[in-house]
Amino acid sequence: MLVVTTIAAVRARRHELWRSGHKVAFVPTMGALHEGHLTLVRRGRELADEVWVSVFVNPTQFGPGEDFARYPRTLERDVELLREVGAALVFAPSEKEMYPRPAEVSLTFPNLSRHLCGAHRPGHFAGVALVVSKLFNIVQPEVALFGAKDFQQAVLVRRLVEDLNFPVRLEVVPTVREADGLAMSSRNAYLDASQRQQALALWRALSAAQAAVLKGERSAKALEGLMLSVLGQTPGVRPQYVAAVDPETLEPVEEVQGTVLLALAAYVGSTRLIDNLLVEVPQ
Ligand code: PAJ
Repeated sequence: MLVVTTIAAVRARRHELWRSGHKVAFVPTMGALHEGHLTLVRRGRELADEVWVSVFVNPTQFGPGEDFARYPRTLERDVELLREVGAALVFAPSEKEMYPRPAEVSLTFPNLSRHLCGAHRPGHFAGVALVVSKLFNIVQPEVALFGAKDFQQAVLVRRLVEDLNFPVRLEVVPTVREADGLAMSSRNAYLDASQRQQALALWRALSAAQAAVLKGERSAKALEGLMLSVLGQTPGVRPQYVAAVDPETLEPVEEVQGTVLLALAAYVGSTRLIDNLLVEVPQ
């Protein structure tokens, strides 16, 4: 496995692979890797000859007051995990390598980012779109893998690829969870033992809303009320949003039908966690 820090080194290796006709699957990450990330890498191995992974805590997607400074940075361990799981190349650039000067270009999603996390993290998705575009241009993968855990991000990257004609195929991988249902996240590392228990409220809220849909509930307002009440039963959990939306447009719905995305964000202590669940609405 190659570990490189420069764009030039990635490009040089990419040229070698083109000469040998080998295909690359790409998994962009911010490191502090867990089983969710590793599942994307394993899936990538089924789709291409080599899996390349970037590890870069992207400053442009963090707002003022967010956790950029304290985001866990565990590169040595990440490299070991990626070696074990069979990645072929790790790109771990410095901030200077990715942003030698502040980017002038800005990519905005006036409709898609009005909802869910976009409504609460101004500038976040512009930062994600910028770094993903740069990484796609650096790596030029045939396939790129994203997790459904960050559902809005996956929807937005799909739109980015379509609108700007990036020659890459996207693969979205279902959320990997701990045995008790908690969605795996690098930010779970911020939780102490009692917060780790409190964080289960997110999964309980989604599960309760899913059960209600399966029992016949069709009102989005009622589902949102139910998710809020379940979150409210756990002291220490402070909901930021709960929503039942169209999984393609991310627009709120009144009556759920077809497939609905249940999504929420909540603070557990000072840690902001998100989760979501796609639910097929019975006819
Ligand atoms: P990061 O949070 O490190 O996540 C990297 C990828 O792993 C994302 O596609 C994310 O959806 C996926 N992922 C995280 N937890 C997962 C889980 N429990 N199950 C399945 N997939 C999971 O998302 C980012 O980094 C950044 O925004 C990035 C795209 C790298 C741009 O900086």
